[in-house]
Amino acid sequence: MAKSEIIVGLDVGTTKVCAVVGEVTKNGVELSGHGISPCQGLQKGIVVDIDATVLAIEEAIEMAQQATGFQIRSVAVGITGQHIQSFNSRGSIEIERFRDITAEDVEQAKEAAQRIDIPAGREIIHSIPRAFRIDGHEGVRRPIGMTGTHLEVEMHIVTAETSFLQNLIKCVHQADLSIIPGGIILEPLATAEAVLSAEERELGVALVDIGGGTSDVALFRGGGVFHTSVIPVGGNHVTNDLAVGLRVARNEAERIKLEHGTALDEGIEELEAITVTPLGQPADETVRIPKRLIPEIVHPRMEELFELVADEIDRADATHQLPAGLVVSGGGSQLPGTLEVASRVLGMPVRLGAPLDPAAATSALSGPSFATGVGLVTYAARYARYARQREGQLLEGLFAGIGRWLRGLLSR
Ligand SMILES: Nc1ncnc2c1ncn2[C@@H]1O[C@H](COP(=O)(O)OP(=O)(O)OP(=O)(O)O)[C@@H](O)[C@H]1O
Ligand SMILES: [Mg+2]
Repeated sequence: MAKSEIIVGLDVGTTKVCAVVGEVTKNGVELSGHGISPCQGLQKGIVVDIDATVLAIEEAIEMAQQATGFQIRSVAVGITGQHIQSFNSRGSIEIERFRDITAEDVEQAKEAAQRIDIPAGREIIHSIPRAFRIDGHEGVRRPIGMTGTHLEVEMHIVTAETSFLQNLIKCVHQADLSIIPGGIILEPLATAEAVLSAEERELGVALVDIGGGTSDVALFRGGGVFHTSVIPVGGNHVTNDLAVGLRVARNEAERIKLEHGTALDEGIEELEAITVTPLGQPADETVRIPKRLIPEIVHPRMEELFELVADEIDRADATHQLPAGLVVSGGGSQLPGTLEVASRVLGMPVRLGAPLDPAAATSALSGPSFATGVGLVTYAARYARYARQREGQLLEGLFAGIGRWLRGLLSR
């Protein structure tokens, strides 16, 4: 039997590393299994301990290999952190009259949009064409084959700090893995691939992935991304607030959050109490505290988080451009009351974003914490198809050019 082609998404998160394996089929990519391992090597999305990160990657990959029977040698890896910056850039070219626009013209316009000064110590990780304009006419999706004299492209450019990027790459390499072409992917872009519908992206939608250390934001309109940013607040901040506010150890605060956490006091009885172990006490030395204390501590943090999301939407001038509302994913989105707080702060419709892929939805990958891992596979598969198509178009253009040249020679 022929060997299957596989694509592996590696989500190196602040709380866990998740490796998702997808098998390439003629209809796209089918999820075939995953591995997951807790990770202590990152803070706020940034690698701070290479050995711990490598260990977690090796464990997640080993589990994914055992689950699927595939040998994993290369991956697409997600990147996040506050060092990520993004902006939109335009580039244009003039085209001779009465000639169809070719793949090469599009490449040249894209190159013009990428001719920008990137500060030292930073590098481009994505340049995504958002929209084309031909002779001032907006909204062109596929310019190849159209006629016009002025082709303009708007690109969404994402840059990362080289040292943080290199540390992540180092971890992947030290785990004996290589990175596939185009395989360094901004996490919210991958997550979007897994949880947003094409209609939402077309209409205008905001995505927030609440992880452990960061919340990643991406805004889409007209089918493409136009704003990305990373907010350095995630579910771990809620845990820390509970640890400080209730005077308990971090582990105990995490347990309390998972068992009793909520951002809202609605539905909690006046005298309802929970049992906790105070800081520095043995596990069986417990006390009872009012459950109402929990939303009192958690609510302001979640409100702050969505106010920061509102600031981002404001910064992108997108307040009235997101009719499909907000989609919230990531492990942190599972905290009860999150969606209500989001909708109160932002005044827009809000829904939970778990992977839409039917294979993910019916498997252990169904939760919102796996959206990034699943999305990395889908994003990388789409990128590979796009790269092949672009190569084909450029080659076709080259042959058409040679054909024209030959015809020109023969007709002399
Ligand atoms: N049921 C739950 N209720 C509340 N919080 C939860 C729940 N399950 C997970 N979390 C929180 O979700 C966070 C982890 O989310 P996720 O797995 O998406 O993070 P990550 O990808 O490792 O981190 P990052 O994306 O920031 O690098 C933790 O803070 C965890 O406490
Ligand atoms: Mg994450």
